[in-house]
Amino acid sequence: MAGSRRSRAKPLAERRRLTATVLAWLAVSVPAGAAGAQGGPLIVGDAIPASLTGQKGDAAKGRAIVTNRQVGLCLLCHNGPFPEERFQGNLAPDLNGVADRYSEGQLRLRIVDPSRINAQTIMPAYLKTEGLMRVARPFEGKPILSAEQIEDVVAFLLTLRGETK
Ligand code: HEC
Repeated sequence: MAGSRRSRAKPLAERRRLTATVLAWLAVSVPAGAAGAQGGPLIVGDAIPASLTGQKGDAAKGRAIVTNRQVGLCLLCHNGPFPEERFQGNLAPDLNGVADRYSEGQLRLRIVDPSRINAQTIMPAYLKTEGLMRVARPFEGKPILSAEQIEDVVAFLLTLRGETK
């Protein structure tokens, strides 16, 4: 319908304010962590637009996290363009081309707290909450990552365009 289209680009001032809010929020506390974040400005739609650290992640470190069987455990469920990894999971979508399907912010939310997208998901929430708050019981003992590691993983996932087997 004519005139009903809304611009998707947010004004710069609003984006700056959002980033500032997120950083302030992270500095103060993470309420019950990713497992029980109370909405707030961090999550916008189905995404976390701003970097958790204010920095870009390191894609090479991110790849190491994703393929690590102790740290990321991603390949327990996922497969992807990792020819050196013999055993990869088939419980979850192939990570090939994932950057074609999701924006940076959407990928970030899917690592921080996938239950925001699918309440029944088997994928763990990865944002480390240790030292800030108790981790909700269902997440105890699950693999968790620091904000910096999550940014590294996001940076790596953003390199997965096309079918890069
Ligand atoms: C216990 C299994 C499991 C583990 C471990 C896991 N995931 Fe997932 N992941 C899933 C499932 C299942 C989905 C499909 C959506 C859903 O059910 O939530 C998913 C969805 C995703 C998506 C969206 C993909 C798409 O095409 O829709 C991304 C990106 C992702 N995972 C990345 C990761 C990364 C990176 C790691 C490791 C840090 C990881 N996952 C660890 C099970 C897992």
